[in-house]
Amino acid sequence: MSEWHKSDWRAKPRVQMPDYTDKEALAEVEARLSQYPPLVFAGEARRLKRQLGAAARGEAFLLQGGDCAEAFDQFSADAIRDTFKVMLQMAMVLTYGAKVPVVKVGRMAGQFAKPRSAPTETVDGIELPSYRGDIINDLAFTPEARTPDPQKMLQAYTQAAATLNLLRAFSTGGFADINRVHSWTLGFTDDAKAAKYREMASRIQDTLDFMAAAGLTAETQHELGTVEFYTSHEALLLEYEEALTRLDSTSGKWLAGSGHMIWIGDRTRQPDGAHVEFARGVLNPIGLKCGPSMEPDDLKRLMATLNPENEAGRLTLIARFGAGKVGDHLPRLIKTVQDEGANVVWVCDPMHGNTIKSATGYKTRPFENVLREVQEFFGIHRAEGTIPGGVHFEMTGQDVTECTGGMRALGEDSLSDRYHTACDPRLNASQSLELAFLVAEELVANRENGKDAMRAV
Ligand code: PEP
Ligand code: CO
Repeated sequence: MSEWHKSDWRAKPRVQMPDYTDKEALAEVEARLSQYPPLVFAGEARRLKRQLGAAARGEAFLLQGGDCAEAFDQFSADAIRDTFKVMLQMAMVLTYGAKVPVVKVGRMAGQFAKPRSAPTETVDGIELPSYRGDIINDLAFTPEARTPDPQKMLQAYTQAAATLNLLRAFSTGGFADINRVHSWTLGFTDDAKAAKYREMASRIQDTLDFMAAAGLTAETQHELGTVEFYTSHEALLLEYEEALTRLDSTSGKWLAGSGHMIWIGDRTRQPDGAHVEFARGVLNPIGLKCGPSMEPDDLKRLMATLNPENEAGRLTLIARFGAGKVGDHLPRLIKTVQDEGANVVWVCDPMHGNTIKSATGYKTRPFENVLREVQEFFGIHRAEGTIPGGVHFEMTGQDVTECTGGMRALGEDSLSDRYHTACDPRLNASQSLELAFLVAEELVANRENGKDAMRAV
């Protein structure tokens, strides 16, 4: 592959990016950001890559989740804490249930820019540019608010830095709440399933009690009081990404300093486009969203471009087809990966193929479809004898009402109660935990299936 420079993407066709009218203001912001410290370090990105390599082999499992879009006006320590806490709870369910180490990656500290299905939005006959995330423009429906403003990149950087600072503090400072496993399943009402999940929670609690009685606490065992937590976002706004890209002196390679892992969205993965050009040159782990329009030939080219050395943990394929459609797409892409002998982590995003408009006008996702897509994903990997390496989802620790269903049976008429997302509907804390219990169950089933297959050989 040819030499790479961090600004090479500028010569490629770009989609889903704003046209800044004030070029001078843009250049000034880029120059300023280029002087700021990177948010993450190369050694961390490499460590995450090694852990993702383990996930590709079935020796670890990726849990990637957080907001659809981080928002300036919802930025608070409590929101960060609650999302972090739910991620740790989900990880605990998975570690206990499936006995694998869980690699925890937040859609946090940089997840600000959004691709949109239409460039403009029309309300009452007035047409304005679409909202593209707080790093680009404002949600308010006025011409001023919707004009892309480069200054917003500086505010996004500041928010990302403060978020990461708190996450780093939580990760190493001990986080006692994690011991109250039982409260997680309170409020689950669906009887048979809830009983099963309460039973698992009891077993986890027993284990924690036993460990505490044996003197294994965060105070005595450093490992119990610390977790590794990584950040990720869609690398959509390439001016921001380029300005935070740094040369790693240890390896002589480039690092996207905006987050540990970056991904390419389903709408910006053109093999000759700007986003693929940027991502191919940085050393970070790269995610690639794979929707129903991903053709085997495209995937082949993208894998060759993004991971020419077939490095373990470098490339994560995030499948997002929609419930009922996984069987139409995933098997042929799995075959492509196998034919190429490519090293990838297969991850299921059960959110983005399941968005619908409710009768009450809210964008929502029926939780049963989210669960169904997860089941289909695991089922196909079972049938193919390949490895499901993780899940990717949109969630929040807040008690929002954005996705319908779940064991607290949220109906469409409740969506208006606490619908706060700046973009797509997220799972709330209870739905997230329910998802974790289901994923743990599926993982165990795939593991048993793998053992049976070994015995049959
Ligand atoms: C997202 O992850 O928020 C997103 C826009 O996903 P996709 O590119 O898969 O549509
Ligand atoms: Co989204």
